[in-house]
Amino acid sequence: MTTPEVSSATPPLAKPDTFLLDGRAIPFTPGQTLMQAAQAAGVYIPHLCHHADFDPIGSCKVCSVRIQGRTVASCTMPARAGLVVESETPELHHDRQRLTQMLFVEGNHHCPFCEKSGACHLQAVAYHLDMQDTHFVHTAPHHEVDATHPDVWLDRSRCILCELCVRASREVDGKDVFAIGGRGAHTTLLVNSPSGQLHDSDVAVTDRAVHICPVGALMPKRQGFVIPIGQRPYDAADIAQRPEDS
Ligand code: SF4
Ligand code: FES
Repeated sequence: MTTPEVSSATPPLAKPDTFLLDGRAIPFTPGQTLMQAAQAAGVYIPHLCHHADFDPIGSCKVCSVRIQGRTVASCTMPARAGLVVESETPELHHDRQRLTQMLFVEGNHHCPFCEKSGACHLQAVAYHLDMQDTHFVHTAPHHEVDATHPDVWLDRSRCILCELCVRASREVDGKDVFAIGGRGAHTTLLVNSPSGQLHDSDVAVTDRAVHICPVGALMPKRQGFVIPIGQRPYDAADIAQRPEDS
């Protein structure tokens, strides 16, 4: 009786699946979204509510891409082998510009005196998209500012309702300080506390929620205008060159 031969050779690695993004083959692992695979491959798709550390919620639609004539959010769309995906087309560029312009007119984004200017994702995406004006009529809405906490403040007029603070507070800080409430144009960021204000909430200035805000809405106090103009994150690099930010 002969013993069957056991091969000591390492079996060949399974070839990763790929999809095409603007003609480039992007490898992915099962379960990844188009956005996750693109980021892993170093390809930038504009986005605002996506963050690599959190599950996507697909609310801003800035990451929209086209697949066989359909527009889908790349941050929620699972990658599938053989998909043909378009991202950098004039039409999508135009749509992303319009979405970004809507966010600008829905809030009070007065960048010249905002502490987040030069480090703000909304502003950086607008620069990336070559947004020259706000296109739509400015609504100049009234939103509450909450400066009741000794170390943290919230200016809802700059909030883009990305829910990153909501997710970070719940999943990282274990606190559930923030929530989105209201409907339509009256949708707003809520603070879960007896008064609805920050001072009697569980928030602390060290919380991830306070530092993940991509715009100038939720900020630590007394830390504004500390980086000289010219050295702020997006002075030197387009947001597409800073994948580590989100
Ligand atoms: S406060 Fe900032 S992080 Fe929170 S929802 Fe508004 S924009 Fe997003
Ligand atoms: S980043 Fe995909 S919907 Fe906001």
